[in-house]
Amino acid sequence: MDIDAIWKPEYSVGHPEIDHQHKYLFELWIMLDSLKNQQDNRRSLEQALLSLFDYVEVHFSNEEKYLAAHPEIEQHKQIHADFIAQSNTFMEEFRNQTLDLQTVVDFLFHWLIEHIVKTDRRYFAEIQTKD
Ligand SMILES: [Fe+2]
Repeated sequence: MDIDAIWKPEYSVGHPEIDHQHKYLFELWIMLDSLKNQQDNRRSLEQALLSLFDYVEVHFSNEEKYLAAHPEIEQHKQIHADFIAQSNTFMEEFRNQTLDLQTVVDFLFHWLIEHIVKTDRRYFAEIQTKD
């Protein structure tokens, strides 16, 4: 699977740098998806999870910078913080060997698309009409 199999024009928020970061998040997700059945390859799995969760944090703070003037920025930051808390829980479960990889892979895919399409797109559209 590659990014062209996932990315759709309606995922664009109209901000090239943020779109590029969202695409990169899907690429990290593809990496995780391709490794999910290699339960004996725990180092690679841990690396794939950490790569995605570390990059998400960098991306969130970048996005929050562009959306800083939006009146509902605090709600958006809270959604990001909740995701980071969830990712920390996943990492704990991974280390306790209680994490179901397919559940995580499905959760991440749906969360990313729903967040980009419903939340990010609305915020970027509203910030652009302001200036
Ligand atoms: Fe966001």
